[in-house]
Amino acid sequence: MKIRVGVLYGGKTTEHEVSIITAVQAMGFLNKDKYDVIPMYLTKENEMYTGEPLKEMDVYKETELLKRYCKNVVCYSKDGALVLQNKKGLFKRTIATVDIVIPCVHGYNMEDGNVQGMLETYGIPYTGSDIYGCTVGQDKVFQKQILEAEKVPVTKYTWFYDNEYYEDETKILENIKKVGYPVIVKPARQGSSIGIKIANNEDDVKEAIEDAIKYDDKILVEEVISNMTELNCSVLGSNSFMETSAIEQVMGKDEILSFNDKYIGSGAKKGAAKKMGASKGMVSADRVIPADIPKKLASEIEETSKRAFRALGASGVVRIDFLYDKKSKKYYVNELNTIPGCLSFYLWLPLNKEYDELLDDMINIAVKRYKKKLKKTTIFESNILSTFDGTKGTKGIKGKLRHR
Ligand SMILES: Nc1ncnc2c1ncn2[C@@H]1O[C@H](COP(=O)(O)OP(=O)(O)O)[C@@H](O)[C@H]1O
Ligand SMILES: [Mg+2]
Repeated sequence: MKIRVGVLYGGKTTEHEVSIITAVQAMGFLNKDKYDVIPMYLTKENEMYTGEPLKEMDVYKETELLKRYCKNVVCYSKDGALVLQNKKGLFKRTIATVDIVIPCVHGYNMEDGNVQGMLETYGIPYTGSDIYGCTVGQDKVFQKQILEAEKVPVTKYTWFYDNEYYEDETKILENIKKVGYPVIVKPARQGSSIGIKIANNEDDVKEAIEDAIKYDDKILVEEVISNMTELNCSVLGSNSFMETSAIEQVMGKDEILSFNDKYIGSGAKKGAAKKMGASKGMVSADRVIPADIPKKLASEIEETSKRAFRALGASGVVRIDFLYDKKSKKYYVNELNTIPGCLSFYLWLPLNKEYDELLDDMINIAVKRYKKKLKKTTIFESNILSTFDGTKGTKGIKGKLRHR
């Protein structure tokens, strides 16, 4: 019997559409001889739909069409599998059963551990990092704090909550000045360059902060790396082994790599990625793969990527993004993407790992982790309840609670 693989994507996030692209690609590339592929699409209201039409991009252009031809389902877990059952209608039917999930979600509310927590609670295996890695991976401040502690180079930064800014703007602006203008302002837990702006002075920074606060109440302000080029490297593995992909150099048209550069850029027409048969999503940006950089720098980037992957306790496939100052020749880890756009498949092609093989590897890693976790002790024998004397009627309990 084939393994029933659920691809979970969409959801209540600003990166909803990007997630659809990642998922449709992954569904297309999963090896159909080994797997039955089951779409698990979450609408922007987090309603789950399944059905064959979801494997094609066209159905997403018209919500009405999608709702008519696909099934609205709810999930529950049974015997270690996830059952998708019709939500509407008098008679309940099992629409599909899923053995393992590939989360292809991006961004806040989804990639940040929410989805992983749900799957852990259902007790079903899933690919990629677990709750802890995903939570840290989504928060640009947590990432920096952890990477710094592991001596992985990061840019100078300061951070604050929106209420702290409104309560003591002068102090926050003072801290930003210490970082040194120009700075870049980011909502701590967004992605796809949404809400990110460069500020050259105090007036600019106030405007950028107001904008970032629209997306998040936690704000990161960091130094701008000048003469900057972006180098990305994917890591595949777990805490017991890691391998690195080819390194890509990403070229944006805008001052920072914008949403447009990432997803709508001209690179799709002429970039190296197109030659490799990929034309959507992250592969739209103009990029050079493998990056034209000295061998020594490449091996340092690979080593640092593994250290960052380990520090976050990541798993499956992750993309580590670097900022490289061409003049000072210094590099910094900018961020970790625990569910990278297109699952970074294009970075593995130069190593002769096709997308279907990458997906196989991700599934194998997930199954291993699941088996290992099953072996861990989750029961702790204790006689705490037998000695608790407040169980004789509610009176006793109330008495106990009152004295806590
Ligand atoms: N410190 C920096 N100096 C210069 N450019 C930066 C810096 N940080 C980010 N950028 C630019 O902004 C883009 C988006 O920032 P990033 O932190 O990667 O956020 P996102 O999670 O939205 O991708 C980067 O791809 C890069 O082009
Ligand atoms: Mg980024």
